[in-house]
Amino acid sequence: MKMFDLVIRGGTVVTPAGIARADIGIEDQRIAAIGTDLQGREELDARGMYVLPGLIDVHVHLQMPAGDIVTTDDFFTGTMAAACGGTTTIIDFIEQLPGESPRAAAGARRAEADGKVAVDYSLHLTGNSSAPAFLEEIAALAGEGYTSLKLYTTYADIMVEDKDILCLLETCKSHGLLPIVHAENDAIIAYEQTRLLAAGLTAPRYHPHSRPCTAETEAVQRVLALAATVDVPVYFVHISCAESLEAIERARAAGQTVYVEVTPQHLLLDEQAYDQPDFEGAKYCCAPPLRARRHLDALWRGLQWGRVQTVATDHCPWDFATHRQRGRDNFTLIPNGLPGIETRALLLYHFGVNAGRISLPRFVELCATMPALLFGLAPRKGNIAVGADADLVLWDPGREITLSASSLHQRVDYCPYEGWQVRGAPDTVLLRGQVIVRHGQFVGAPAMGRFVPRAPFSPLPGRPDR
Ligand code: URP
Ligand code: ZN
Repeated sequence: MKMFDLVIRGGTVVTPAGIARADIGIEDQRIAAIGTDLQGREELDARGMYVLPGLIDVHVHLQMPAGDIVTTDDFFTGTMAAACGGTTTIIDFIEQLPGESPRAAAGARRAEADGKVAVDYSLHLTGNSSAPAFLEEIAALAGEGYTSLKLYTTYADIMVEDKDILCLLETCKSHGLLPIVHAENDAIIAYEQTRLLAAGLTAPRYHPHSRPCTAETEAVQRVLALAATVDVPVYFVHISCAESLEAIERARAAGQTVYVEVTPQHLLLDEQAYDQPDFEGAKYCCAPPLRARRHLDALWRGLQWGRVQTVATDHCPWDFATHRQRGRDNFTLIPNGLPGIETRALLLYHFGVNAGRISLPRFVELCATMPALLFGLAPRKGNIAVGADADLVLWDPGREITLSASSLHQRVDYCPYEGWQVRGAPDTVLLRGQVIVRHGQFVGAPAMGRFVPRAPFSPLPGRPDR
């Protein structure tokens, strides 16, 4: 009888294709067999657990500089927290300064991360120029496994104008890059910020007024028009408004290929968070902002109807006691972004699966399989199949957790969901066959994770929502 290095015994295996009781045999860091009565030199008892593919978070900002400050999680603390939340692959960003070479920035980012990551990782490129030398460099980097390009329609220093977007989209089309877009109209934001501050409206509660849905939906529609012009698929990060989803549906109906990401914060927290006293509303400043309840309902429907393809965190941790205090007298100085690298699956499982809003296979599809397919990580990542990396989560559906900054591993001084109770959490997490979380405790090490070069983007067959 064949002996595997490790057998995961008796778990309930979950993939987007369905749910089945099976053993999993692991050899040389990969899944070597899925069956019954498999034998291993070592065994992990998974009875009573769901066995999920290692989850993938395609949108995180670890040790991201913004002016003179840097997000609080570094590559080690952030990836350790990711692991504790069931995530075994993250995709962060390379963000060169204006005029800086993307290749040099990629080298610098790799030097920051390599040897310090507890899970596997990859990096998105960022397009902040359409100069010919710049386009040549990103095309070459695409050939080395950096196969997605972030485009911002807001934020000085990094945003790109329509004519640049068209050039960058052309490069994406020619070189197998997936364009991923932060869509907010910069002029509307600047106008609203100036108007609010001039009226003395400086508190965090005015943050959502400065970034209205019209700003997001206008930028979504404009980028859709630009993508249609070039005839290239496009992926929108952190969509927050019902009207944006509707615009995307219209574009799909007209034949465009469009992918949508949503975040747990936009699904679960609403704009009332900004009204909290004692400046606590500052904890929730992010771009786009939290919205009115009707938008949360639309995002959940988007998940249910297949109109949303991924749930990612946009983990962007800033401390409340220091970083966010910069905006005490002016909400526009509060650094944007919420922490969430560790809590994504806990929240989506509890409020999605336990609440009957999405099925368990759909949860896996949103958090692992679709991210892998869209971002060139499949077939190694995102599924439970022979030949795939043995990135696995033994998910305990009965484990109850009270979310709190004091017990989470992410390094930031608050939790947006402080005191919330959830049921269902990772018990054991494996990265390429090695246990990195055991009974909820991190047992991995920096340097266990590797850089993963990604395959060129190719559109998925059919409409994503069909
Ligand atoms: O508020 C956010 N989202 N901050 C992180 C940077 C970005 O916009 O993705
Ligand atoms: Zn982001």
